Order: sequence, then structure tokens, then C-alpha cells
Amino acid sequence: MTLTAWVNGRFLPLDEATVHIEDRGFQFADGVYEVIACFGGTFLDMDAHLKRLQRSAESINIDLPMTLPELATLIEQTYNHNPFDDAMIYVQVTRGAAPRSHLPNAGLTPTMVITSRHLPMPSAEKISDGINAITLEDMRWKRCDIKSIALLTSVIGKQEAAYRGADETFWLDADGHLLEGCATNCFAAINGVLVTHPLDHQVLGGITRRMVLSVARTHGITVQERPWMLSEAELTECMMSSTTNAVMPVCHINGEVVGTGEPGPMAIQLRNWLLDEFDKLKRHS
Ligand SMILES: Cc1ncc(COP(=O)(O)O)c(C=O)c1O
Repeated sequence: MTLTAWVNGRFLPLDEATVHIEDRGFQFADGVYEVIACFGGTFLDMDAHLKRLQRSAESINIDLPMTLPELATLIEQTYNHNPFDDAMIYVQVTRGAAPRSHLPNAGLTPTMVITSRHLPMPSAEKISDGINAITLEDMRWKRCDIKSIALLTSVIGKQEAAYRGADETFWLDADGHLLEGCATNCFAAINGVLVTHPLDHQVLGGITRRMVLSVARTHGITVQERPWMLSEAELTECMMSSTTNAVMPVCHINGEVVGTGEPGPMAIQLRNWLLDEFDKLKRHS
């Protein structure tokens, strides 16, 4: 199936959907993005994603070229051109095209691109074995709360993980606390409590992270948002979350076993509770 993308006001076959070579997204990574899951035609937490996009854009002084309800309609239309059962919507907004200069001209028209494609699911093997991760000292900028398209450090982190036979890199602050992954938030089960780094400039406020914490609280799991380390006594499990992973158990870090080396009960429960929520969406569609 040929994918159809929305680019600056037009629906086009993906291969014909292009932007200007002087687009500031291409020249400076001067833009922001979102990834939204869609199950059976129902979008997962669309409002939260759109609000985060608006917050990210405002943080770098880009005015979205339309209102959030208009954007939601456009996303639905893009999905209708590419209606996968499990879909992944990508929205990117850049400051627009202009002769290359670090200081942006005033009054540029933002570039906007939307695609809808199949949402890749983690393999059954990864879910049953858990994933391998490595840790690296955080080398990213100091505004990781902005969902910026400048993802070079995430690319480096993923490459280093792959080189070492792992799936994800978790970034460590200078004191050795786990912040988040290249494209995931991370959590630990410590003495039966679900622990994750608090929201600040060092982590992205993941929409899935928020769902995980909410589902955990609903089911009576105590949640602590605080800095944490792998060396903590009573740490029995690690896991990560993202739109494309839901919740994934992390069973090896830096070649060492986490807990029993098998997906732990908290990660399995949280994953199942989240998948139940996604199934409810499919049934209501
Ligand atoms: C750095 C980072 N942290 C966390 C996440 C997870 O966010 P979400 O749950 O909204 O997909 C992502 C997703 O791309 C990310 O890039």
C-alpha cells in the first residue's frame, strides 16, 4: 500500500511528499514532533499528545499553524488515508524554510508534516525475554522536556546499544541516577514500589509514562517519582515505556541480570493492564 502523507496543506503519495532544502528542520533541527498510537481508528490520548506538541512548540517560540481541534481533524484525515488497525501517527512542525541563518527571520510559515503508518509492535520474544539495555552518562541538552526533532544523541545511544547487542540506552545523571532511555521512560520496582525519575528538564513527560503511573495507582501500586539507581537494595525489576512499546520489561542492563533475569510480576501486570486499556479503545471504535 502506498502511504499518503500530509505536507503543508496537501495530501501526497509519500515519495512525492517533500519539503524545501532550506527548511530549518533540515538545516538546524529547528522543530518539534509527536508520535501518537491509534488502535482500530481510536487515537490513544490524542489530547495529551497535542497539548505536549503545543507546549514543545511554544518552548521554542514556534506558533502552530492551526488550532489543536483543526490539527486533530487533519490527523484523523491522514489516518483515513492510511487506516492501519494498529497505526502510528507522526506529526512534525518546524519553524519553516528561509535562507540559512541561525537567527530565524520573523514571520516564517511553519512547515508541518503528518504521516500514518503501521505501528510496529515489540516481538513476542522480546516481551517474553525482556529487553537488554546499557547505560551511558547523559550527553544530551538541558531541555529534554521538549520533544525536539534534534535526536542525534538518541541516534548515538541507540547505535551504541546495538553495537553492544542491546536494545536501548538509559541515560545516567552525574550521580548515576537513571533518567530515561533514548526513546523511552524507565522505571524500577523497588521494595514493591514503582519508582521513576520525576518530571524535570532531564526527562520527557512521556504520555505512556503518565498512563503507567495512573494504571499503577488505580490498581493500588505505590508510585514514587524520585531519582533512583540500579545499585539500590530491594530493586527487583526494571521496565521502560513508550507509545511504541507500551510497557516492556528490562531484564539485563550492562550485561548484568536485573532481578531474576526474567520479566517481573510488576512489569507483566502493568503491561497487561495497559494492553487492556488499548483493547477497550478497539472495542469502542
Ligand atoms: C526521550 C524520550 N523519552 C520518553 C519517550 C516516551 O514518550 P511517549 O510515552 O509519549 O511515547 C520518548 C518517545 O519518543 C522519548 O523520545
